[in-house]
This record gives sequence, structure tokens and C-alpha cells, in this order.
Amino acid sequence: MHGLYRFVSVALSPAAGFNTRRTELFNPSGCGGGSAATVHPVTCSVDPLSFIRRLPKAELHLHLEGTVTPETLVELSGRHDSVQFGLNEARALFHYADFSGFLLAFKAVTEHLRSADDYELAAWRMAQRLAGQGVVHAEVYVSVGVVYYWRRCEFEPLFLGMERARLRAESELGLTLYWIFDAVRHFGPDEAARVFRKAAEMRPQFPSIVGIGIGGDERRTGAEPFRDLYAEAREAGLRLTAHAGETVGPEGIWGALNIGAERLGHALSAIHDPELMGVLAERQIPLELCVSSNLRTGCCLRPEDHPLRRYFDAGLMVTLNSDDPALFLSDLEHEYRIAQERFAFTQEHLRELASNSIEASFLPAERKVEILRRLESLE
Ligand code: HPA
Ligand code: ZN
Repeated sequence: MHGLYRFVSVALSPAAGFNTRRTELFNPSGCGGGSAATVHPVTCSVDPLSFIRRLPKAELHLHLEGTVTPETLVELSGRHDSVQFGLNEARALFHYADFSGFLLAFKAVTEHLRSADDYELAAWRMAQRLAGQGVVHAEVYVSVGVVYYWRRCEFEPLFLGMERARLRAESELGLTLYWIFDAVRHFGPDEAARVFRKAAEMRPQFPSIVGIGIGGDERRTGAEPFRDLYAEAREAGLRLTAHAGETVGPEGIWGALNIGAERLGHALSAIHDPELMGVLAERQIPLELCVSSNLRTGCCLRPEDHPLRRYFDAGLMVTLNSDDPALFLSDLEHEYRIAQERFAFTQEHLRELASNSIEASFLPAERKVEILRRLESLE
């Protein structure tokens, strides 16, 4: 067990820097594609009985708001706006040129979720898509920080809609969902305190609220200001996650580890720090990698720069995730296919990735064992 971690100041590599050049994304079988400006649901012609789809797996880095498609946005507009906007206007909201633009697009989508019924619709559609990809469990970020800061409204009433969808998903699809309340780091610790304390307050009644996290722009705020709040959340029985090393160097990852984050979102820049790689390997800190996301936001400029395969080969605890699938034109199945077709992961490697996703989840041990057994016996 390590005590304090050193802070390193490594010059950002192009992969961690920013550039508005849009990256050509992987397109393993000529599906999906297009720029974020022309968002379509991913419609890959995948063999429905493919190994990847049949693999029981978990998605651990998925934002509820980022699953809302332009089609659903049009429906939401019909519920609330005096003049319903059309598909092209909905698609226009998904335009972004870089990471900052992506955060604004995410905010714009979130602003269209206004009632409990809206959250229920978004969560139910998300659940259906997950189940269709062989996902058996998902731990889903919900941006409570955006609701408080931008919408200035209470979150509990909205949450009841999500819970209705969760219960339905469990009974009709056999899919379990946990919620992670996500704060926006650049809104500062006081705003994050509201989010984390709400999670702590609601958790006894809603055990599906399993943890907390911080997203947003690391270039504006590191992890350190959240140290006491993370300790408080842990005391309340919440599990700790953090987006880290997505837009900044390894110091962002050291910072997240230092405040007790158990699972790291993105962790792109660890590759630049051998000592950090050693700590991540030794402690088997689960990494929630999101390849399409990193390419779409420009956090990683070229597919060949992405550290997925190097992390895996170095024995790190790697999981694959889709982050904001509607904004990034991806889904979990697509991320597995990218690993297979562009990073040369074999079927056994994919099984290991799926197995990591179950092990790194916050599920109880018995359920993990049950899923892992199914996973191991899959042919
Ligand atoms: N990073 C930072 N903030 C976010 C993300 C992300 O991947 N998704 C939604 N908000
Ligand atoms: Zn994210």
C-alpha cells in the first residue's frame, strides 16, 4: 500500500493536448462513422450471435445524459417546448470541435431532461440498448452537478424516474443498474459537496446509488480541493471514482489516487509516467478506458497513440467503456470491436476485458462470481 504519491510535471504529449482537428475514427466494418456533427445511432452490421455480443459484461463509465440520441431529444422537445424542434436542430446540439465544445454539448443535452418522465425515458432507452449488447450490469454516471448548477432545481423528483426505469430494466431485461452521482469539478468543491451529500442522504433509501465521481474540465481544477469531500463520501459508504488524466498529464491521475479514488475514468496520460504505471499495475486500480470518446474529443489525436493495448500488456486492470455513446457515435459493443480489430485483442483477451469489467464493478461478490462463471464457460 502506498502512502503519498508524488506529483509529476510532465510536458503534455500531443495525445494529451488539444487540437480541433477531427480524428478519423476506427470503423471496423464500415459502420457508424461520420463526424459528431452528423450523429446517428451506431448501426453496425454485427452478427447478433457474435462472441462480443454474447459476452456477459459490465459498462462502468457511461453518462446517462450522453446516451440521449437526437431522436429522443426531439421527443423531449415535444413534451416541453411550445414549438417542437426537428431532428436537424437536435443534431446541431451534438456539434463540438474539441473537449470544451463537447462539455457544452453535454450541457445542452442535459438541459432537455426536465422531468422525472424524461429521466425515465432516457434511462429506459439506455437500458434497452445495453441489454441488446449483452451488458448485464452498468454503473451509470448522472450529472447531478449540472442539474444543481445550471438548472437550479431539486434532484430527488427527477431521480424517481430513473429508479422506475432501473426497476423495469431489472425485471424485464435482467439488467442491473447502479447510479454514480457525478459532480462537475470546475464548478468547485461547494457545488460538489451538494452532489456528494445528496448521494449520502439518499443512499439509505436508494442503495442503487453506489458512488460519486468528478467529471468536467481537469485543466481548470485538479483533484486536491475535493480531498475532504471524498473522505466524507467514503465515510457515508459511497464508492469513489474520478475522471483523471483525460485532459491533463499524469499529475491528474496521481491527484485522483491521492484523494482515494478507487476507479479512474480515462487515465489516458498514465502512459507517460513509468512510476505511475507501476503503481496502477501493482494496486490493480481499475481503469475505465473510453477509446472513441478520447478520439472524438481530441484528447487522443490518433488511434495508434491510444494506450489501451500498452496498458493491457503492462498488466493494468483495463475495462472498456463508451462514456457518452450518443455524442461519440459508439456503444460498448463497438468499443470491443475496436479492441479486436484495431488493437489485435484475441477472443481470450476480450473475455479478460469483460471479466475485468465484472471484477471492477461495485457488485456484491456473489453476483460477480455468478457472472464470471457464465463468462468463463462461454464458447
Ligand atoms: N469527461 C469529463 N466530463 C464529462 C465526461 C467526460 O468523459 N462525460 C460527461 N462529462
Ligand atoms: Zn466520462
